[in-house]
Amino acid sequence: MTELIVALDEPTFERASAIVDKTCAVANWYKVGYQAFYAYGERIIEALRARGSHVFLDLKLLDIPNTVYAGVQSLARYKPDMLTVHASGGGDMLAAAARARDESKSAGGSMRLLAVTVLTSLSKEELVLAGEDLDPHELVAVRAELAARNRIDGVVCAVDEVSLVMARAADSLLTVCPGIRPAGKTADDQRRVATPMEAAIAGADFIVVGRPITAAADPAAAAAAIQAELRAIKPLPAI
Ligand code: C5P
Repeated sequence: MTELIVALDEPTFERASAIVDKTCAVANWYKVGYQAFYAYGERIIEALRARGSHVFLDLKLLDIPNTVYAGVQSLARYKPDMLTVHASGGGDMLAAAARARDESKSAGGSMRLLAVTVLTSLSKEELVLAGEDLDPHELVAVRAELAARNRIDGVVCAVDEVSLVMARAADSLLTVCPGIRPAGKTADDQRRVATPMEAAIAGADFIVVGRPITAAADPAAAAAAIQAELRAIKPLPAI
């Protein structure tokens, strides 16, 4: 079953809490990213915890291994359910993050680490301009394998890369997919987009949805419609 994560990309605690108030009857997971974490992180994490919601801390760590290790250690005190690092930081950096995760688990935490493969806002042309010649799909596959080898729990990827990740990383990785747009909605700055139903059919474990819910006239109705689309798809029985 594909789970919905609502992205709280809001400028103030009050606006983020209002989105949580409106959607918490239909959503159990919330993403706290740069905007929320840097402006009012501790308050919103506490508020989500008090409601029993799951926290996905999307801080996309990228630095030398020692710095990322220390960063994951420091963030463990928030007890996030999931935390992101960039796969482009390399195997040693991923392994260092995994060590800090293991330590937080031994101390009673349950954090899962996700590696961001290739941002869903990047097109093939933009990757080439940034000096990355591999096709985006191939780059996702290479980075997913690197993440799996270094004991990362899952990857962030586009919906049309889920099957590739499952095939190349032997099913061991969770898949978390942003770039979700219900049919007929604007893509905004996203490039590799898919509908909630396409994500569910692809077998994504989680989808991350921001503006289609947070900028909707009725965020609760928008979230409920996405949940209905996800629930309409029954996972294939194991053979
Ligand atoms: O508003 P929208 O639905 O486009 O928001 C998607 C969210 O997912 C944003 O918070 C963005 O930071 C995040 N994200 C993404 N692409 C990635 C990783 C995270 O769009 N590869």
